[in-house]
Amino acid sequence: MKHTYYIWTIGCQMNHADSRHLAAQMEERGYQPAEAAHLADLIILNTCVIRQQAEDKALDQLRQLKGLKRSRPDLVVAVMGCMVGKKLEAALREHYPFVDVFMGPSETEPLMEFLGGSDLPDAPGSGCGRALPPSAQGRTFTAFVPVVLGCSHACTYCVIPSRRGGERSRPKSDILNEVRELAREGVKEITLLGQIVDRYGTDFDDGTHLAHLLKEAAAIEGVARVRFLTSHPNWFTDELLETVATTDKICPCIEIPVQAGNDEVLARMRRGYTAEQYRRLVAKIRARIPHVAINTDIIVGFPGETEAGFMDTYRLMEELQFDMAHIARYSVRPGTPAARNLEDDVPEEEKERRRVALEALLNESLEKKHAALAGTTVELLVEGKSGRRWLGRTPQNKVVLIEDAQDLGGRIVQATITRTGAFSQYGEIK
Ligand code: 5AD
Repeated sequence: MKHTYYIWTIGCQMNHADSRHLAAQMEERGYQPAEAAHLADLIILNTCVIRQQAEDKALDQLRQLKGLKRSRPDLVVAVMGCMVGKKLEAALREHYPFVDVFMGPSETEPLMEFLGGSDLPDAPGSGCGRALPPSAQGRTFTAFVPVVLGCSHACTYCVIPSRRGGERSRPKSDILNEVRELAREGVKEITLLGQIVDRYGTDFDDGTHLAHLLKEAAAIEGVARVRFLTSHPNWFTDELLETVATTDKICPCIEIPVQAGNDEVLARMRRGYTAEQYRRLVAKIRARIPHVAINTDIIVGFPGETEAGFMDTYRLMEELQFDMAHIARYSVRPGTPAARNLEDDVPEEEKERRRVALEALLNESLEKKHAALAGTTVELLVEGKSGRRWLGRTPQNKVVLIEDAQDLGGRIVQATITRTGAFSQYGEIK
């Protein structure tokens, strides 16, 4: 009988990409995906610790794993990702003795070695091996491809540099081979990933730039769409803007976190720009690409954020009318500069009040913005089913649901929008 594996993934797109790489390696070793965790011989928990909430989720899963392991001592349990980080293994090992293997973000070798590792397969994406686990082939139409690993920017609130290590770009040939492999396996849309993706290649000193990588990825046969995230205002260059504006297959969707609209807060976060500089960049992007979508991330209740400071963020959101915003309450992360030097002085209820106020504003502006889409025709890549409907996304990453009897999976279709809302739209095939 074949062995089975199950991967629980919490967190960002980078974690999902790491899980996909691991799944491909497991299947190269003859493992098959299990339908559910309790049916698997091997369970991998891929963790996130960006906020306390994510960490709590991981801790909760760990407790479940402990129970499973007690009832089935032969179960193999592996924990990977940002909870493990680069240096925390020893402490975790002591705390969670039922875990067989710990590995940091993007690492797979410790598990391969544990499983008996003389003939390790090549990592997927290295040119040999598969980019997708065979079980996913033929029904996965979108994939995330990490291009910049780690981060060295050191925003004061952020735990990522200490968990994913310093910034390094992957060689361009590795990335393009992986994209080619994914396209061969039926993937239509590729999203290039980095904490500051615009910094791709800056560590090579040979002029390599994200703009070139995007163009080359878009030129690969079978690739219909390319996306990239996350951008940083200080690294989003005119060359990049021009490339997005002039390359059809690169989606006009920019993920560019502002984090706050108050300059003192931005300085304490060590973001490296002012609210005015951010406004000007957004204006420039919109002037060059009128149909662009601009998405952002915001943290409310950062240390020292006054009511007036918060209102600066509120007004910035009101003014810029983002296409999406991920709004989070500030959460102290051990080991970060903010945890060491700044008092977490905004009460939790106040953080929540501010978050809810921004969510309401976002909802209202999205409803208004999307209402303007009613009756228009949009291009969709259909990713799969969502209940009885097909789920597609526009180049701007807006979700459109359609009812249709044909198999539309993986197809690019034209659809007319019939009904709109803050988060999803409904449409009909043209
Ligand atoms: N508290 C709250 N939100 C955070 N983020 C990162 N670190 C923290 C933190 N300590 C948010 C930022 C980032 C997104 C991925 O998570 O907005 O852009």
